[in-house]
Amino acid sequence: MRIKAIKLINYRNYSHLEFNPCEGLNALVGENAQGKTNLLEAVFLCAFGRSHRMSRDIELIKNDQNMSYIGLSVTGYTGSRQIEVKLSRGEGKKILLDSCPIGRSGELLGVLNAVMFSPEDLSLVKDGPAMRRRFMDMELSQLNPSYYYRLQQYNHALKQRNALLKDNFAPSSPGLLAMWDEQLANLGESVINARKAFIEELSGIAGELHRMISDGRETLGIAYEPDIRASCGISLHDAIIEALSSSALEDIRRGFTTAGPHRDDISISVNESDARIFGSQGQQRTAALSLKLSEIEIMKRHKSEPPVLLLDDVLSELDEIRQRMLVKSIEGVQVLLTCTALAGLKNAGLKDAKVYECKCGTLRET
Ligand SMILES: Nc1ncnc2c1ncn2[C@@H]1O[C@H](COP(=O)(O)OP(=O)(O)O)[C@@H](O)[C@H]1O
Ligand SMILES: [Mg+2]
Repeated sequence: MRIKAIKLINYRNYSHLEFNPCEGLNALVGENAQGKTNLLEAVFLCAFGRSHRMSRDIELIKNDQNMSYIGLSVTGYTGSRQIEVKLSRGEGKKILLDSCPIGRSGELLGVLNAVMFSPEDLSLVKDGPAMRRRFMDMELSQLNPSYYYRLQQYNHALKQRNALLKDNFAPSSPGLLAMWDEQLANLGESVINARKAFIEELSGIAGELHRMISDGRETLGIAYEPDIRASCGISLHDAIIEALSSSALEDIRRGFTTAGPHRDDISISVNESDARIFGSQGQQRTAALSLKLSEIEIMKRHKSEPPVLLLDDVLSELDEIRQRMLVKSIEGVQVLLTCTALAGLKNAGLKDAKVYECKCGTLRET
């Protein structure tokens, strides 16, 4: 899959940009605050319907303007598609696919498959479980948009249950609580099963990559750590119901739901020791890199073509060996990468990159 053209009008610090990235490596070089991340964010927006920086839509509109346009032409083995996002201070966000408005941003998922890798991802291993859940959920949503809808429904039901718990638990509430428990069990079961299958596949691929990057010195172990699991004789659905009812009193006291897949984690070990707690910074970074690179491989397998890779300022955060591994493993992938200077990356193997200078919301081929 690749991006043929990007057009931005009054988006962030861009007044007007038309950019046709090449098929391989595109290096956007520039000082801080020139618009490099903004450009990758625009691509992410067209892949997921929202900013990876958790910014509100309105923040994407150029400060002194009322409307913003982000247009992307993409092409893949299923053909060419046009994704357009129109933002307006008064009317919010409209997304168009091949000129037809879409109702829900979930409909975008899978049209442009993209993997974003930014410096924050290097702390995927040492961060809290929320980041690792986000990692699973983003990849699974692109691979299978119905996962995204189920997760959304799960989160909605969870919110309703939490509201009920907070809301001075009334005498009529136990019946309502049982109703939400049933919904959470149905939706939670399918979320857990999808995550389990994903992590099983991920674990093999990431293990191999990690062995390569660490030159055979380290063995990576990845396992899904669900908050609730089926046990002998009890189905996953019933295990969730049981966990929810046995924590009900605690939940009422605390005002939120203390058990369920919203508490899941991924366990990560290096040489059989928990890398989240005991890993050195180097081991944690290698593991994070292996996990991110596995995303590309999984996408290739399931979608029959690689995703577009967005590398935001990560190369300079890695040592030379990891830089070279990263660049080697992205052969045949369209990459938009940003950095403040190419000089520091001269051994990373970027010689075939097309280089653009990014300055005050403009791009110039060098
Ligand atoms: N809505 C906006 N309107 C105008 N400028 C913006 C807007 N949002 C961000 N910017 C500007 O974009 C710049 C940051 O761009 P960014 O892509 O994060 O920089 P970098 O090149 O370091 O990655 C800052 O100068 C910021 O003021
Ligand atoms: Mg940046």
